[in-house]
Amino acid sequence: MTTLITGGTGKTGRRVAHRLRALGRPVRAVSRHSEPRFDWLDDSTWQGALTGCTSAYLTFQPDIGLPGADTILGAFSRRAVALGCTRLVLLSGRGEDAARQAETAFIAAGAEWTILRSAFFFQNFTEAFWAEEIAAGSLTMVESTVGEPFVDADDLAEVAVATLLDPVHIGRIHELTGPRLITFREIAHEIGSASGRHVAYRQMPVHDYVATLVSAGLPEEDATGLAYLFAEVLDGRNARLESGVSDVLGREARDLRDFARNALAQPAHHG
Ligand SMILES: NC(=O)c1ccc[n+]([C@@H]2O[C@H](COP(=O)([O-])OP(=O)(O)OC[C@H]3O[C@@H](n4cnc5c(N)ncnc54)[C@H](OP(=O)(O)O)[C@@H]3O)[C@@H](O)[C@H]2O)c1
Repeated sequence: MTTLITGGTGKTGRRVAHRLRALGRPVRAVSRHSEPRFDWLDDSTWQGALTGCTSAYLTFQPDIGLPGADTILGAFSRRAVALGCTRLVLLSGRGEDAARQAETAFIAAGAEWTILRSAFFFQNFTEAFWAEEIAAGSLTMVESTVGEPFVDADDLAEVAVATLLDPVHIGRIHELTGPRLITFREIAHEIGSASGRHVAYRQMPVHDYVATLVSAGLPEEDATGLAYLFAEVLDGRNARLESGVSDVLGREARDLRDFARNALAQPAHHG
């Protein structure tokens, strides 16, 4: 009854693994640096990860919103079903064409599937992606004044575990958002306030943003894909709240303010 978790050290995979282990459930958390090694882009690593697992929580890399995700995810999901790993929960994104195609390929593989279609995570600003820039005092994003309903990766992990354990979620798509719309400018301000320092907000046209991602170390193809994806999904299409978190957990999603207070509060100085 082992559950495979891809992105096992990532923002949601790590949290899902932790929760399942706390419930006494056997877990195999994999990534390119685990044993067995697992790489989405190297199908010779898939069988070793899947063998002996009956369920899986899947987070795709480099990003489910980039073209080509459908081919790889479809092939992987068919392999999973063939090897007896039939209960599959997939993390997907909202309002992304390539992600929709990947979901279709995932569903067609014939597993007992669930899809978690999620808003951007709070933890992008504290654990990944923008964390380093924020630590240095600024946040840069593509031009947009649209609010995004950022969600807590801990809420998402709790939802993922609930859906893995309860067959009532088979064949369902849950749209997961936080409790309010927040612009990137507001994020910079709220995260700055919670951590006790100023975080300057900068926005730039999408082609300039590609250059900043490349200079931060992203391969040019991924940087271009991501920058245009951000611009696309921040055009207003995702600027609404959904009830997935409360539908599954029976409570409201956590607010950024509570998250930031806990995750970023400066330790009190004594003496
Ligand atoms: N971040 C968000 O706000 C958000 C919101 C909605 C949906 N999503 C979707 O969720 C998925 C995961 O995104 P994330 O931002 O949460 O990333 P993440 O899971 O935090 O990504 C890091 C994890 O992926 C592993 N990894 C990286 N490249 C890999 C590869 N080629 N093969 C296998 N494992 C690999 C890393 O470990 P190693 O380096 O050891 O391989 C690490 O465990 C993406 O498809 C994204 O589109 C993200």
